[in-house]
Amino acid sequence: MKDGKHITMGIETSCDETAIALLADGREILSNIISSQIDVHKVYGGVVPEIASRHHLSNLPFVYERALDEAGLVLSDVDEVGVCAGPGLAGALIMGTAFAKAICAASGKPLVGVHHIQGHIFSNIVEHPELEPPFLCLVISGGHTQLVEVRGYNEFHVLGGTRDDAVGEAYDKVARVLGLGYPGGPKIDEIARGGDPHAIEFKRVYLEKGSLDFSFSGTKTAVINYLHNEKQGGRSVNPADVAASFQEAVVEVLVNKAADALEMTGYKALAVAGGVAANSLLRERIRKACEERGTKLYIPSSILCTDNAVMIAGAAYRKAMEGRFASLRLDVWPGLDLEEGLDKLEM
Ligand code: KG4
Ligand code: ZN
Repeated sequence: MKDGKHITMGIETSCDETAIALLADGREILSNIISSQIDVHKVYGGVVPEIASRHHLSNLPFVYERALDEAGLVLSDVDEVGVCAGPGLAGALIMGTAFAKAICAASGKPLVGVHHIQGHIFSNIVEHPELEPPFLCLVISGGHTQLVEVRGYNEFHVLGGTRDDAVGEAYDKVARVLGLGYPGGPKIDEIARGGDPHAIEFKRVYLEKGSLDFSFSGTKTAVINYLHNEKQGGRSVNPADVAASFQEAVVEVLVNKAADALEMTGYKALAVAGGVAANSLLRERIRKACEERGTKLYIPSSILCTDNAVMIAGAAYRKAMEGRFASLRLDVWPGLDLEEGLDKLEM
């Protein structure tokens, strides 16, 4: 039953999660269905785009029915349908947007196009009613590492980003060379708890003074070289020490850069978003750094850090309130820019 509430459906298929959620009044989570394809892709050591698209195609109808069933709603209760249209894998995005457009064409419901990173940022807004723009956001995922000024609900300014690997990508690659499997982030997080973070001093890359950009490929390569050298020298390696030392290096850079950005901009609120925001060391260290500075910190619960459709519904609700709808001609944008690209979602 709708009970006079405003209901938003969110759809997310940009990578390997087929997700649909229903949200009431932009905050109350009525259902949050996430069908992960991890088991399908892990035999290949990473996401295979063509296989991801096929699985979205077969999963979407079931995920859709479960999302409505769990919320106790029917399609006619829904006020708008929000869908992630980029950035992400083109074929995977096409599945979600085609499904959303079909629903809207058949029912006459309005369609809203959502930027994936705007969605991640909205995980915080959905969960923390007191959080309002402007604030600073550290976006750390498998595809992005950015420091973003959230100037408004639909206005973003990117202060810095990675020049090579995204932080989640570095986690996944290091996990792969350690033989931990895909996705590597949670596995490194887990085994690092039993390791010595100071066993090996891996390279920390800060770039030019004052830069808010990131670079993780040097740290990743340092881990690969270390493993190679130890193997060549016939020495045994402790994977927990390697994981803990790698994580120590990466988290140190993320926390220090976020602190620099707070210092430079003067923001008093920091949000953290994206899959790597689920990392236990990062959560502990960023909390400490914010406490020391008197900065208010917002991090979503772990289930809303990694890809989900609640975040897409949250952003779609706000866009609908501002009349920012898409037409049925909505395209997909694999490299959609957060600062310049949002207009493309309203065509
Ligand atoms: O946000 P997300 O689900 O997808 C993208 O938009 O990329 O992020 C996925 C990334 C993967 O690289 C995964 O290894 C990483 O987030 N990740 C973690 C943890 N959980 C997920 N990295 C470190 N620690 C974790 N606990
Ligand atoms: Zn994501």
